[in-house]
Amino acid sequence: MESTNQSLRPITTKLNDLGNIEIGGCDVIDLVEQYGTPLYVIDETTLRSVCRDYKKAFEKYDKMNMMFASKALCTMATSAILHQEGFGFDVVSGGEMYTVYKAGVDMKRVVFNGNNKSYDELSLALELGVGRISVDNFFELALLDEIAKAQNKTVDILLRIAPGIECHTHEYIQTGHLDSKFGFDLTQIDEAIELIINNYTNLRPHGLHAHIGSQIFETKVYHDEIEIFVREIARIKEKYNLVFDEINIGGGLGVKYTEEDCPPSTFEIADVIINSLTESVKKYGTDFPTIFIEPGRSIVSTSGVTLYTIGSSKQVPNGKRYVAIDGGMSDNPRPSMYQARYHAEVGNKKEDVSLQTVTIAGRFCESGDILIKDIQLPELAEGDVLCVYNTGAYNYSMASNYNRVQKPQMVIVNNSKSDIIVNRETLDDLISHDRIPDRLK
Ligand code: LLP
Repeated sequence: MESTNQSLRPITTKLNDLGNIEIGGCDVIDLVEQYGTPLYVIDETTLRSVCRDYKKAFEKYDKMNMMFASKALCTMATSAILHQEGFGFDVVSGGEMYTVYKAGVDMKRVVFNGNNKSYDELSLALELGVGRISVDNFFELALLDEIAKAQNKTVDILLRIAPGIECHTHEYIQTGHLDSKFGFDLTQIDEAIELIINNYTNLRPHGLHAHIGSQIFETKVYHDEIEIFVREIARIKEKYNLVFDEINIGGGLGVKYTEEDCPPSTFEIADVIINSLTESVKKYGTDFPTIFIEPGRSIVSTSGVTLYTIGSSKQVPNGKRYVAIDGGMSDNPRPSMYQARYHAEVGNKKEDVSLQTVTIAGRFCESGDILIKDIQLPELAEGDVLCVYNTGAYNYSMASNYNRVQKPQMVIVNNSKSDIIVNRETLDDLISHDRIPDRLK
């Protein structure tokens, strides 16, 4: 069965009677007139559809805890929607924790991850009653126990491990291989457990956590990951008589950024995970654990598009034709950071639809600010609207103010209505944290 993460465009995308692209019943040209560009657009139907795919895919496993990795997109409105859809949250900073808290999320359904959480962030997690803290290293075990003792609390934790699985994705987004900055090496788990049993008595461990990488297209890595988890919980039970009945397998499922990408469906992933669990539980003689998954990209990417206005263009003699947009690496740093590829279409009707090869250049003062290299599009002119697909994940959340450009606003569309969910920054926002010391005045 197909799932929404396999779609290149939001599932409500169509060409309307005027020949313009329409998403969530809203003509993108109307959106541009109303809100300006660059504009992040989230299609609520697509977002909810992905959530329902995940729930349906895992419905046959009753010990399932669905979380959303906030790092992919963290706004109060999208958090509220995901909370309504029954998702908990993986947060990795005080900022993400505070955002989901303010969005009304049940903090017991939150897992706090990260390889260098600060004293203040851990204290905030305890104050807000975060459900699980995934402890990454020995330093954090000591720090968290100290904070827990000071607050007279016992904290529910998972141990983050590096399971030693390599997956074939960009090097910067692989996390589960052996020489990783994240988590305890498998050979360090026993020392961590002994410290918890003997010294860190305000920590209550429930299980293990790992994340093996992102934009994953192979399903076998999940099979292998689950087997390692179950093998370890069986070993820990045997050696310490300690029951670990929770495993958090992280996120990672890929999405379709271009026509060539063929990510597996949520249903395929769920089958691999549940089958591997069933096999491993039998092989190692454990009970079925509670499973946490925390996908980010596959939940929000497909629902998001970014609209830009075309400005200048240039033909290099005997070279490329560049067409510039009014955004680029500050609203979407992924092409320059990871050589990520995107698909785009012209949002407004074009009379002449014959295609030519162009390179979409960003507006930032850097040669590497190229959004899409060599894409086939109808002849573009100043004022045309470019609609870039699959920008819901790791675009806004990684946006910067490079060149002191304001971050775009974000709207959500549904049933022909649009609402702002993140305001566009103003010039005054940009200078609001600046101070000129008196002696320089
Ligand atoms: N859990 C943990 C512990 C993670 O570190 C991550 C992502 C996820 C879950 C969610 O993974 P996802 O389902 O989104 O693949 N900025 C990069 C992606 C970095 C992912 C980091 N960790 C990008 O734009 O491709």
